Amino acid sequence: MINIQNVSKVYRTDTIETLALQDINLQVAKGEFLSIMGPSGCGKSTLLNIMGLIDEPSSGQVELDGRGVSDYNSRKTARFRNEQLGFIFQSFHLINDLSVIDNVELPMLYRPDVSAKQRKELSAEALAAVGLANRQSHFPSQLSGGQRQRVAIARAVVGKPNIILADEPTGNLDSQMGDEVMQILIDLNENMGTTIVMVTHDERMAQKTHRLVRLFDGTQVV
Ligand SMILES: Nc1ncnc2c1ncn2[C@@H]1O[C@H](COP(=O)(O)OP(=O)(O)O)[C@@H](O)[C@H]1O
Ligand SMILES: [Mg+2]
Repeated sequence: MINIQNVSKVYRTDTIETLALQDINLQVAKGEFLSIMGPSGCGKSTLLNIMGLIDEPSSGQVELDGRGVSDYNSRKTARFRNEQLGFIFQSFHLINDLSVIDNVELPMLYRPDVSAKQRKELSAEALAAVGLANRQSHFPSQLSGGQRQRVAIARAVVGKPNIILADEPTGNLDSQMGDEVMQILIDLNENMGTTIVMVTHDERMAQKTHRLVRLFDGTQVV
């Protein structure tokens, strides 16, 4: 499903060059739930962003669903990203001025094949699936952290992507809310067959996934 080959990433600023990833090779199978761990600054987010076509490698190849990605600015790539990938972030990344259901609808606004009515229905379904059917008209500021992350999950899954990329999704949550969010991801993986790659600091969360990869200073150590 995801094939990362000899991927390196160098960030350059005026004064400093950072080798964020160094010759990473990683395959993620369809339906797999993989976790990535490692100390702060070791390149976890960079790797996830490269897998999600948000960021481009300095060298090496990225293949998603059997398709090599070379032109990161093409419409086809943008469309693939929008339809096949769902993103979840540590700090939720919800839009505070939009209601819960409007936040969930966002990724579908760019889908010409989905009507406004279908958008509402699918969003309501996704919210119900994360236990927030009764919070549609609330605003993010009126929700707890766990509820906000569940809105973000609903937004990530509403377009039924094949791959979910989650960057420390439980990092800002207490352990009970973290467990709830983790259980939603496990269910999604088991029931829908969604491939999930999750960055985490929490060994306990990582142990619930199929496989763990450890990064250190931009290289894979396990
Ligand atoms: N946009 C950027 N410009 C310059 N350096 C960056 C940028 N993003 C990340 N880095 C550097 O790359 C390294 C890896 O960062 P990151 O992938 O965010 O690590 P992690 O998610 O494991 O904490 C760090 O040293 C970080 O400072
Ligand atoms: Mg990070």
